[in-house]
Amino acid sequence: WCDRRTIMHLFLLLILQATAAIGQIDPAHCRYPLGMEDRRIKDDALKASSQWHETTGPQLNREEGDGAWCPAALPSVSQYLEVDLGRLTFLTVIGTQGRYIRNSGNEFAREYRVNYSRDGKLWKSWRNRQGNEIIEGNKDAYTSVIKDLRPPIVTRYVRLLPVTRLSTTVCMRVELYGCSWDDGLISYSAPEGQRMQPPGYPIANLNDSTYDGVHERGKLFGGLGQLTDGVIGQDDFTRTHEYSVWPGYDYLGWKNDSLEYVEMEFVFDRQRNFTSMKVHSNNMFSRDVKIFSSVSCWFKPHFVWEAEPVEFRTVLDDRNPSARYVTVDLNHRTAKSLRCHFYFADVWMMFSEISFQSGNKHAPAAPSASATPDDGKTPILIGCLVTIILLLVIIIFLILWCQYVCKVLEKTLIKQALVFPTACGGGYAEPDITQCTPHQCFHSNAPHYAETDIVRLQGVTGSNMYAVPALTVDSLTRKDISAAEFPRQQLIFREKLGEGQFGEVHLCEAEGLPEFLGEGSPLPDRDGHSVLVAVKQLRADATSQARNDFLKEIKIMSRLNDPNIIRLLCVCVSSDPLCMVTEYMENGDLNMFLSQREIESTLTHANNIPSVRLTILSDLLHMAVQISSGMKYLASLNFVHRDLATRNCLLDRRLTIKIADFGMSRNLYSSDYYRIQGRAVLPIRWMAWESILLGKFTTASDVWAFGVTLWEIFTLCKEQPYSLLSDEQVIENTGEFFRNQGRQIFLYAPPLCPPSLFELMMRCWSRDIPDRPTFEGLYQALKPHVNQ
Ligand SMILES: *[C@@H]1O[C@H](CO)[C@@H](O)[C@H](O)[C@H]1NC(C)=O
Ligand SMILES: *[C@@H]1O[C@H](CO)[C@@H](O)[C@H](O)[C@H]1NC(C)=O
Ligand SMILES: *[C@@H]1O[C@H](CO)[C@@H](O)[C@H](O)[C@H]1NC(C)=O
Ligand SMILES: *[C@@H]1O[C@H](CO)[C@@H](O)[C@H](O)[C@H]1NC(C)=O
Repeated sequence: WCDRRTIMHLFLLLILQATAAIGQIDPAHCRYPLGMEDRRIKDDALKASSQWHETTGPQLNREEGDGAWCPAALPSVSQYLEVDLGRLTFLTVIGTQGRYIRNSGNEFAREYRVNYSRDGKLWKSWRNRQGNEIIEGNKDAYTSVIKDLRPPIVTRYVRLLPVTRLSTTVCMRVELYGCSWDDGLISYSAPEGQRMQPPGYPIANLNDSTYDGVHERGKLFGGLGQLTDGVIGQDDFTRTHEYSVWPGYDYLGWKNDSLEYVEMEFVFDRQRNFTSMKVHSNNMFSRDVKIFSSVSCWFKPHFVWEAEPVEFRTVLDDRNPSARYVTVDLNHRTAKSLRCHFYFADVWMMFSEISFQSGNKHAPAAPSASATPDDGKTPILIGCLVTIILLLVIIIFLILWCQYVCKVLEKTLIKQALVFPTACGGGYAEPDITQCTPHQCFHSNAPHYAETDIVRLQGVTGSNMYAVPALTVDSLTRKDISAAEFPRQQLIFREKLGEGQFGEVHLCEAEGLPEFLGEGSPLPDRDGHSVLVAVKQLRADATSQARNDFLKEIKIMSRLNDPNIIRLLCVCVSSDPLCMVTEYMENGDLNMFLSQREIESTLTHANNIPSVRLTILSDLLHMAVQISSGMKYLASLNFVHRDLATRNCLLDRRLTIKIADFGMSRNLYSSDYYRIQGRAVLPIRWMAWESILLGKFTTASDVWAFGVTLWEIFTLCKEQPYSLLSDEQVIENTGEFFRNQGRQIFLYAPPLCPPSLFELMMRCWSRDIPDRPTFEGLYQALKPHVNQ
């Protein structure tokens, strides 16, 4: 019961109790949570213009569901969250927070506006005293920001309108603070206030600058303003103070030369039995200002004004220049509207507040949920304060403890994650992502793109390692390494292909390898005696954990046997440094190969640029079929590649493709990976939305990457996917894929690409996993094209 918001609220209360300028309704004390969080405001009192997902509706904007209201924002339409407070309320403070979702939400409203309506029909925009409509909101998704409304609002209905700039998604959680508006006044009318130009003094502008009704022909009507904002004017109106914007700001004032009296009309929400009216007036007689000399008020209980007024004469005071409340006895007359004539006592008459006291005999008001500080709440306040202090002590302990324990935990988790990637909500026991809707994922504490998700992506050499179901790893690692030990001295270093945290990948010549492997071993196409191989080597200073992982990787690799997957040829594990030797293809990778080619034209002929011949389409399709075939094999073993891209497809002279996993360790392709804090990397432009948002890597997310790889092939790798988007925008776009409201940006159809093939790509980028094709399906769909 002493949660964070209550604590903040209490501190606010304590601080603000000391502030000055107290009107009849006291804004400093009228700051009670109106019940968004504790649900005194019922779900059916909440409405929203839209919501981007069923879990982000206004009813769920409490600390559950997705933890916030998020509009399906079209920047051109202003979106709003509407709250019906159930009765007229004096609204003083708005608190906002971003999307919670167990601290992994990332959306919040930087700015918002407020509309309000007393009757639910006529909507008005709130402005602050300077005329500004925009309220500064949150700077992050978790800190709650509490803003005072200056001026406060008298209203029943409130709309919060997040300001959306660019196309970012905003989400809000909201609490409203205030108290019930027991005056029941819904509008007053008055002559427009005037300007006072005393010689030698600054001009005092006595207009009603926060009036929210109509200004017409010198009259104000249909609204409320400075007379009901809870701020009373100072004794000396010629100076500006705390809330004043200019001299005389707090006052509505008139001069006697143009008016015989000041006529004001007050309209209430219902019929009331009035005891009194309190008028806060200035009395700075040295400036020709005095309270009114007398007032006559007429009453309208139903449709007709009663003939008999209540008349009241004041006692004028020429000695004390203080501003004061003048209490006018209204004799328990009943009315829904009141019309009063205030008569001048001097040249000027100035009011800063008017309030009404009425009995609730006729129509009892709803019981007040707000409390005044002196109605027995003090012991509770003290109790809560003591609790706060205790809580603070406990929190400090917790922080110290967590600093230690969390570090240990984090280390363990990261180590585990390196080998056993976790799927949605825990262990990798369920490779079938269709079992897990995003909704469930959010509820099973699935992490967003937190750092731990990313670290798992890196294999020992900093390159990608296949994600393998834990069960499979288990069964594999119980067996011995099936690859043969190759004499290390016969590996001749040619070039460094890349490096990672714990190792390097070298391009080497392997002398005598064909003989070593013997007859029938499928070796890369060779020309002469030497065979090019890729050698992954563990650094000497690698941790023992990295060493274990490396051995596991060898065991896994040694089980792979497919014409379109790079094969492990042999190993050097009898001595340090540990090495694994895999096939390498002399045409390099597909990305390099394609990007150096041009579509055949007269220009390429003239300049002797290697060109893709007219048979280009069938060549490209042939490549696609091979990749789908290799992936089909991995999928059949429930292996997840996690970094499928042209940079990871190696090519021999006959355009045979083998899928590898060196891409991430190569400097050449570092811009294809999104780096977080300099060590974790993600190929975000190839990643399915659920991999980025939920850390889920499955065969279905490999299918997504296959779609992007196809796109690369048919653009001849001339540009990076989404080359016009920054990394941050790509991640934002991922959110749009998740929301699937037509605002996500897809890769365009490459000019070379037949429409049927582009359709296939688009299916790979389906939001819902069952809508994506399987690798078997892709293989079957692509194969016939090649034979045409
Ligand atoms: C907010 O109020 C303004 C009038 O001041 C109105 O034009 C606008 O349509 C309102 N917007 C919403 C969403 O209520
Ligand atoms: C009131 O007077 C100020 C100062 O002259 C002016 O800026 C403002 O627009 C006026 N407001 C209204 C509602 O007339
Ligand atoms: C208004 O209330 C007073 C008591 O508070 C009562 O005496 C009086 O009769 C009421 N007036 C009407 C018109 O009901
Ligand atoms: C109205 O103002 C004039 C000066 O403009 C003053 O002489 C006169 O006494 C004032 N009337 C009242 C009732 O104060």
